Amino acid sequence: MAPNIWRAICTAFVLLVHPITTVAQADITQDSFFYGQSPPVYPSPPMPGAGQWTEAYSKAVALVSQMTLEEKANITVGYNPTTGCSGETGSVPRLNWPGLCLSDAGNGLRNTDFVNGWPSGLHVGASWNRNLALQRGLHMGAEFKTKGVHVALGPVIAPLGRVYEGGRNWEGMGIDPYLVGQLAAETVQGIQGAGVTASVKHYIGYEQETNRNPEGNVSSVSSNIDDKTIHEVYLWPFADTIHAGAGCIMCSYNRLNNSYACQNSKTLNGLLKTELGFEGFVVSDWAAQHAGLASAEAGLDVAMPNSVYWGVSGGNLTAAVNNGSLAESRVTDMATRIVASWYQMGQEEGFPELGIGMPLDYTAPHTPIYARDPSSRSVLLNGALEGHVLVKNVNKALPLKKPKLLSIFGYDAVAPPEMDISPPSDPLSPFTFGYEPELDAIAFVSSSFPQIAQNGTMVSGGGSGANSPAYISAPFDALQEQAYQDDTSLFWDFTSFAPVVDASSDACLVFINAFATEGADRAGLHDDFSDGLVLNVADNCANTIVVIHNAGPRLVDQWIDHPNITAVIFAHLPGQDSGRALVQLLYGVQSPSGKLPYTVAKNESDYNTFAPTLPSEEYALFPQSNFSEGAYIDYRNFDAKNITPRYEFGFGLTYTTFLYSDLEIEILPTVSTSYFPPDSPVVEGGIASLWDVIAQVHATVSNIGEVDAAEVAQLYVGIPGGPVRQLRGFSKVDVPAGSNVTVEFDLLRRDLSEWSVVEQSWVLQQESYGIWVGSSSRDLPLQGTLNIG
Ligand SMILES: *[C@@H]1O[C@H](CO)[C@@H](O)[C@H](O)[C@H]1NC(C)=O
Ligand SMILES: *[C@@H]1O[C@H](CO)[C@@H](O)[C@H](O)[C@H]1NC(C)=O
Ligand SMILES: *[C@@H]1O[C@H](CO)[C@@H](O)[C@H](O)[C@H]1NC(C)=O
Ligand SMILES: *[C@@H]1O[C@H](CO)[C@@H](O)[C@H](O)[C@H]1NC(C)=O
Ligand SMILES: *[C@@H]1O[C@H](CO)[C@@H](O)[C@H](O)[C@H]1NC(C)=O
Ligand SMILES: *[C@@H]1O[C@H](CO)[C@@H](O)[C@H](O)[C@H]1NC(C)=O
Ligand SMILES: *[C@@H]1O[C@H](CO)[C@@H](O)[C@H](O)[C@H]1NC(C)=O
Ligand SMILES: *[C@@H]1O[C@H](CO)[C@@H](O)[C@H](O)[C@H]1NC(C)=O
Ligand SMILES: *[C@@H]1O[C@H](CO)[C@@H](O)[C@H](O)[C@H]1NC(C)=O
Ligand SMILES: *[C@@H]1O[C@H](CO)[C@@H](O)[C@H](O)[C@H]1NC(C)=O
Repeated sequence: MAPNIWRAICTAFVLLVHPITTVAQADITQDSFFYGQSPPVYPSPPMPGAGQWTEAYSKAVALVSQMTLEEKANITVGYNPTTGCSGETGSVPRLNWPGLCLSDAGNGLRNTDFVNGWPSGLHVGASWNRNLALQRGLHMGAEFKTKGVHVALGPVIAPLGRVYEGGRNWEGMGIDPYLVGQLAAETVQGIQGAGVTASVKHYIGYEQETNRNPEGNVSSVSSNIDDKTIHEVYLWPFADTIHAGAGCIMCSYNRLNNSYACQNSKTLNGLLKTELGFEGFVVSDWAAQHAGLASAEAGLDVAMPNSVYWGVSGGNLTAAVNNGSLAESRVTDMATRIVASWYQMGQEEGFPELGIGMPLDYTAPHTPIYARDPSSRSVLLNGALEGHVLVKNVNKALPLKKPKLLSIFGYDAVAPPEMDISPPSDPLSPFTFGYEPELDAIAFVSSSFPQIAQNGTMVSGGGSGANSPAYISAPFDALQEQAYQDDTSLFWDFTSFAPVVDASSDACLVFINAFATEGADRAGLHDDFSDGLVLNVADNCANTIVVIHNAGPRLVDQWIDHPNITAVIFAHLPGQDSGRALVQLLYGVQSPSGKLPYTVAKNESDYNTFAPTLPSEEYALFPQSNFSEGAYIDYRNFDAKNITPRYEFGFGLTYTTFLYSDLEIEILPTVSTSYFPPDSPVVEGGIASLWDVIAQVHATVSNIGEVDAAEVAQLYVGIPGGPVRQLRGFSKVDVPAGSNVTVEFDLLRRDLSEWSVVEQSWVLQQESYGIWVGSSSRDLPLQGTLNIG
């Protein structure tokens, strides 16, 4: 539906039911004022126990049938952790069921020693590499398992990045639902392949930190999303992860259509447990539960880190069943879903003791549990390498060739001064063991929150998605090593705003960052201090190379056209191998292969959803965020309005040149291309036939340059009536210099379908679809059409 029609309908609806203009502020302090905006969907569907879950389901049914009501209720709530786990569910000692340890987060296990600091979600997004995402998940998952963690609290696919200033966009994998869905599904398969349940978060519409939680008399922000948009954009990547078998979904802090995400029956019972056939359990984000019976009946299965609503040991659930206000079958279903995930991941046998080697206090003696596996080294390094995106490179500034003098500037070049192991002050919110960029972040602009992490190189963002690196290879460390190899002289200054430049420098490297953290949205997408530093160097150095560790999009128009700025790299958040990877790219040991998983605009004003929504005068107590742009976020918006970005979605340079040729588009003859998906059962992720391959596209990528490199070939589809183009395929291939590689894309029924609000179904229009293949969302040399029907 076009945004303006949606607005009109929504306004009409609201005016009909609640004539807002005539309602006094005091009247809308009740949730009931908003009742009806999110349609009721009851009862909560029991776990299907189908497909790959059949065996785990029957084992779970067998165990849960032996549990008393009290025991079933007990495992739905959290207990004060006795270990460094972020949360622990109740257990059933009588039946030897140990309870679950749930721990942060999607970029590596946090709050512990002897684990690795992995590249962050945004870095994975920028790598566009499915296999690497899978490998990262496997190796990361193995670390959780070694420490007795049953549930890894990740990956993050919401926020998607709708709000450019969003504080947690870096935890997610980018702003495109297809890209994110593909990479998150691989991540889930990896983590779960290691025997650990992935908790895909945060469900759903969680796109800003501002007003994410109720404070005083102000409720959480409500993400008001229409039915078509939620299906085509925000639910899409969740469907991919559920299709991949995700055993847990975490519901989010925000409201959806004014109903809290952890008690929204439409999103939990309806979209998740009915439409997507979800087999696992729903856990609340920490303290995101805001009702008792209402959340149980809406489909919440576990409340974390404890529950004032369900009571100690889930006692209120038990009481509610006993007095007839809650069906016992709902509590049984909660327990079955929880226990089934445990069987599904094979945790009943040989699983380490819960939270082993993760004490509450690391300054006290503890048995070390070494979770780092030497086989992870190449995955860590490749992960770090592939998320770097080279966006400018003139005069062959890069790769560097044994420079005689290299000058290095900027606060982001060196390792931070400390790793933090201070004991926790609050047992319910354990500290971050290891790296805390927020401690090092200092505000240089007038804002409520720092924009840069000023005291050292940034390898992840801040908050629960930060991690505990075993070491940090800072850019400067790796450059020192390289200088030794090449007999290069180095000059450096990491503190001055206007550093002195030796006129004989062959190149000047400037390291800046853009910090973001959970708990606050960013104060802007560029800061005056870093911009000034870059300009001060560039004014005095004819070959200035800028490296930005950015936890989200970062604007560069303050200096990008400066004639002395010859190269720019968005280095994102590479994890502990940051410097090692960067130096391999700077010196051409590896060719850059990352592509932007978001659009870099020339100006803030080019983004239609730049800043978080603030409470308005009318809705001071119930902040309302209307997603009225519909599917038109990021490049879909730039394309629709014909706005030229600085760097488009999907863009990234390398050290060679690729040519595209030989586009072939083929509809598979044996597959139905009917308007409605052919009748088939609902499997994990939705109707099975949505995953039918309807068409295949081939193209040839030729490396006509001098060096080997990898290319991310991208396929975009123009769905009639929808955005100009939408990403519906990508393939990252190594192409040796002088050779050709054929890339192949499968187009599924769902890739070509749109959500029909009227039919309440995905439908395949019997029309002509535009197909484009190329190296970015705006560099698409191959064009064709696909005719359906
Ligand atoms: C959000 O949508 C509602 C319903 O259409 C409308 O009343 C309200 O003014 C909108 N808010 C903003 C900030 O556009
Ligand atoms: C939110 O409200 C819109 C407009 O009424 C509706 O299309 C959509 O299905 C609702 N979604 C949820 C989750 O309540
Ligand atoms: C509930 O779980 C707690 C924490 O694991 C455990 O100590 C307690 O014995 C359990 N209660 C029952 C009734 O099993
Ligand atoms: C909300 O709470 C604040 C602080 O307690 C108070 O000053 C304000 O009057 C309250 N607003 C309403 C509308 O209740
Ligand atoms: C839940 O039970 C506790 C006692 O365990 C009680 O104090 C509390 O009021 C109950 N909460 C609700 C929402 O019923
Ligand atoms: C049933 O028990 C629940 C939980 O203690 C309580 O909130 C509810 O008010 C009770 N209902 C009745 C009808 O007693
Ligand atoms: C970070 O740098 C600032 C300014 O130099 C300094 O005041 C602060 O103590 C440093 N913080 C840490 C954690 O070292
Ligand atoms: C570029 O750098 C040189 C120093 O090598 C300097 O003389 C010149 O003014 C700089 N150009 C600009 C536009 O600042
Ligand atoms: C965006 O435009 C405004 C107004 O012209 C300007 O002040 C600002 O510096 C621009 N931002 C960037 C990143 O160029
Ligand atoms: C690579 O493909 C191009 C374009 O189709 C073709 O001209 C060239 O001969 C091919 N090269 C090789 C080595 O196959």
